[in-house]
Amino acid sequence: MSLALAFESSCDETGVALVEDGRRVIAAPLFSQIATHRPYGGIVPEYASRAHLEKFTLLTEEILRQHPLKPGDLDYIAVTTRPGLIGALLVGYQTAMAAARHFKAPLIGVHHLEAHLAAVRLSGMEIPYPALGLLLSGGNSAIYHLKKPGSIQLIGDTLDDAAGEALDKAAQILSFGYPGGPLIEKAAARYAESRGIHPGEEEKLERENIFPVILKSLEREKICFSFSGIKTALLRRHADYPDDNIDLLAFHYQERIVEHILRNLKHALAVAGKLPVIAAGGVLANKRLRRGLEKVAAFAGVEIRVPEFQFCTDNAAMVAAAAQLYFENGLKSPYENVTSGNAFGAA
Ligand code: KG4
Repeated sequence: MSLALAFESSCDETGVALVEDGRRVIAAPLFSQIATHRPYGGIVPEYASRAHLEKFTLLTEEILRQHPLKPGDLDYIAVTTRPGLIGALLVGYQTAMAAARHFKAPLIGVHHLEAHLAAVRLSGMEIPYPALGLLLSGGNSAIYHLKKPGSIQLIGDTLDDAAGEALDKAAQILSFGYPGGPLIEKAAARYAESRGIHPGEEEKLERENIFPVILKSLEREKICFSFSGIKTALLRRHADYPDDNIDLLAFHYQERIVEHILRNLKHALAVAGKLPVIAAGGVLANKRLRRGLEKVAAFAGVEIRVPEFQFCTDNAAMVAAAAQLYFENGLKSPYENVTSGNAFGAA
C-alpha cells in the first residue's frame, strides 16, 4: 500500500489530492479559477499563478485537517512539472518541494499529459500496455503510443490549436461565455433536439453541414490535428450572416471537430495497429465525442477506456495516478528536474 499527496497547477485548476495506491482517492479538493478568467475570455497566466499561490495552502490545510499526516506517513509527493504555464508550474513545484521536505518523502515529477491518461486508474481501470493514448484538452490535441510505464511516444500532434481551445474560441465568437466546450455542447444538443435528432443520430445532419471538412485532402494514414481553419470559417460565417441561428452554428462546428478527431483515431489505429485506446483530457467530458469514439473503437474491434467525467478535466488525483506508475515499477521519473532543458516546453 502506498500513500501520496499530489499537486496540480499546470493551468487554471488548483488541485491537491491524497491518494492511496495511485487509484483510491481519499480527498481531492479542487479550486477552479474559471470565474477569475471569465471576463477575459481565456486564461491570464499571471492571475493563474497568483490564484495557485493563494489556494494551495488552503486546499492542503483542508486535507490535513481531516487526515492529519506526520513526516514518514507519505510514500511520495507527486507534482505536475510540465507542460503548462511556467509561473503556474513553478508555484506547484515549490509547494510540492516544501511538502516533500516537511513530510520527508521523495518528490515525483509528472508529465501533465501522462497524468490525464493515467486518470483511468482512478476509475478502476489499468493502462493495457501497449496502447494508444488520445489526449484532447484546452492546450493539447495529440495521440501517443504508450509502450510501457514511463515510455510514451508522440505519434500525432496538432498543427495549430488544440480541440478545447477551438471550442473555447468558438464560444467567444458566438458570445456563449467561458469555458466554451460545455456551452458549445449544450447549444449543439439544443439544436439537435429542435430538429428531432436523438443523441447518437447526429450524422444524419452531415449533408447540411455548413463548414468544410477539416484537412480533407490529408493522406489517409497521416495523423495530425488542425483546428485553426474551422475557427476562421466560423468567424467569417458569423460576421457574414449575423442572423444565423447560433445553436445551428455550434452544432455543425462541433460535428466537424468530432469528425476530425474520429478520423485521426482511425488513422492511428491503422498506423500503430489494433491497440486498446485510452482517451482523456477535458474535451472528453463531451458526450457526443465519447459516443463517437466508442463507435470507432467498436468498429475497429479494440477496447476504449475513458476516465470518469470528474477526472477528465485537470485534477491532482490523476497526478498521483501517473506518479504511482513510476513508484510501483521502480522507475525514476524523467520529469523530476524542472530546471532541465525543455522542462516547461511542449510534450
Ligand atoms: O484538460 P483540461 O481541464 O485543461 C487543460 O487544458 O489542461 O481541458 C479544458 C478544456 C477546455 O478547453 C474546455 O472547453 C474543454 O476542456 N471542455 C469541453 C467540455 N468540458 C470541458 N469540451 C467539450 N465538451 C465539454 N463538455
